[in-house]
Amino acid sequence: MKPEVLLIEPMQAEVEAQLDADYRVHRLAQAKDQATFLKAIGAPVRAIVTGGRLGAANAIVDALPALEIIVINGIGTDAVDLERARARGVRVTTTPGVLTDDVADLAIGLLLAVSRRICVADRFVRAGKWPQEHLPFSHKVSGKRLGIFGLGHVGRAVARRAEGFDMSIAYTERRQAESPYRFVPDLEELARDSDILVVAASAGPATQGIINRSVLDALGPQGILINVARGSIVDEEALIAALAEGRLGGAGIDVFVHEPEVPQALWAMDNVVLQPHQASATFETRRAMADLVLANLAAHFAGKDLPTPAV
Ligand code: 8YV
Repeated sequence: MKPEVLLIEPMQAEVEAQLDADYRVHRLAQAKDQATFLKAIGAPVRAIVTGGRLGAANAIVDALPALEIIVINGIGTDAVDLERARARGVRVTTTPGVLTDDVADLAIGLLLAVSRRICVADRFVRAGKWPQEHLPFSHKVSGKRLGIFGLGHVGRAVARRAEGFDMSIAYTERRQAESPYRFVPDLEELARDSDILVVAASAGPATQGIINRSVLDALGPQGILINVARGSIVDEEALIAALAEGRLGGAGIDVFVHEPEVPQALWAMDNVVLQPHQASATFETRRAMADLVLANLAAHFAGKDLPTPAV
């Protein structure tokens, strides 16, 4: 008998085929009514496979009495109630390490795109404006002051890349880290001292809406905010207001509060580059993430140590 698995967030076709080979997979995305679906298939389900974005809502976890493990295809655990999992003895795994480079690469891509107005210039050329009009200048990136909120794996990878741009690098973290970069304990002070602020922190109650109006105002009318972490860390209303009122220079955003919904107010802003939560979405990295997902599942059902446990 194959172990039964609930797949919450769809994965690449070939990975789903691998899952199908070893497990009996129930796909939540195909359910017309979630509650009815869970009632019908929930009893024997022993594992959840999901993404960092959707995680596993408590209503789903509670509908699975035989649940043993939640396997997250991502590093963010904010959409899974870890305490509840712990209390039930449900294990949780993530995919650390393998997506660090991609997320940092996209952060750098976004800061280049916003500062150098790469998307605006691309639209300018495609609209056939080059022969008639002059494209306004953009802002230099090299040598700028970079603030990093959250000096974990991704934050450090962003910093390493920024060194190549001769940036001066500072960061805010819960406590000073072992690193060559300048520690600024106060986030607002970090924003005030930065030309570009990259959000690379974990989401959760401690960071919910922490990039608020005062932080954005401290970053200022020439400042640029880059978010490759989670939408919930930024007060999105405050961000939109700051951009609309010219109190913030620009933003590069891969993650939003109500994904996949992106506030319409942002669509028309030329100083903003928008991405559909795709920082880890390369063939190479999603393959490596999937391998960890499959390895964690296999280890669990073989009674072996989990390769990358979070709980
Ligand atoms: C993925 C992520 O897009 O790692 C995370 O926490 O958000 C991203 O890598 C996600 O896991 C897929 O939902």
